[in-house]
Amino acid sequence: MPLYRKLEALKLARSNYKGKALGVVPTMGALHLGHLSLIAKAKRESEAVWVTIFVNPTQFEKKDDLDKYPESLTADVASVHEIGADINIFAPTATDMYPEGLAAKKQTLDGLDTLMEGADRSGHFDGVITIIAKLFEILQPHLAYFGEKDFQQLQVIKKWAKDQHILTKIIPCPVVREANGLAMSSRNAQLSPKDRKEAGFIYEAMLQCKNKSLDKPAIYTIIKKTFSAHPNFDLLYVLCAEEDSLKEVHDLVSANKPRLFISVSVTGVRLIDNVALK
Ligand code: PAF
Repeated sequence: MPLYRKLEALKLARSNYKGKALGVVPTMGALHLGHLSLIAKAKRESEAVWVTIFVNPTQFEKKDDLDKYPESLTADVASVHEIGADINIFAPTATDMYPEGLAAKKQTLDGLDTLMEGADRSGHFDGVITIIAKLFEILQPHLAYFGEKDFQQLQVIKKWAKDQHILTKIIPCPVVREANGLAMSSRNAQLSPKDRKEAGFIYEAMLQCKNKSLDKPAIYTIIKKTFSAHPNFDLLYVLCAEEDSLKEVHDLVSANKPRLFISVSVTGVRLIDNVALK
């Protein structure tokens, strides 16, 4: 399977795919079944697939978070290979991606980037868009696949792509969960086995909310009460928000596509999840 580490080699290889419907799955590696479901979907829907593996420094606001982000290139290459020996992997260096220095370009995202994950992680989405813009520029994909676990990221990318008249179609893919309901994430590997098992309560509580007749105060009460029984899990925020604007919903019954969003910190590991409430 073709693995490209150098930008020049990648550009040359990309030029051989002219006229083909190309799908890209941008990742930061440490691939899990969630990523693999995106890659398998891309393989079914595109004539050629590129998986990018790059731990993007400009989207991390804390150096220790970047330093401890898991990396497993050899295992990642093997997992992609199982889906298709013809899938291309691009795992560039930071110098190739940021020849001008590690800086994110400030984006105008109508506030989508300053709430929830953006409120706590200033400049995070500027970093995400900066790297996605670079990858799209290099690969010129027709289709790009993103998981709904990072729902805010998906909406931010969709907004940027629309505003910038990007021709790549953004394809949302459903959350894939571990057996206990925990949303799959590369960060789950940083949890202790005990915390990882216990973390199943997050999705269970979210499912209880789904059946709560769209009563927002009752939903917030369930979530806060559930978390008080799991003191090592720190609830960073819980929010009922409208899917497209990500603005907090006041009346869930009349709301357009409301979702429940949660962010949690456990022993310094940040977990996020969301479910549709209607
Ligand atoms: O979701 C991720 O893994 C990253 O934010 C992405 C989209 C690959 C950009 O670095």
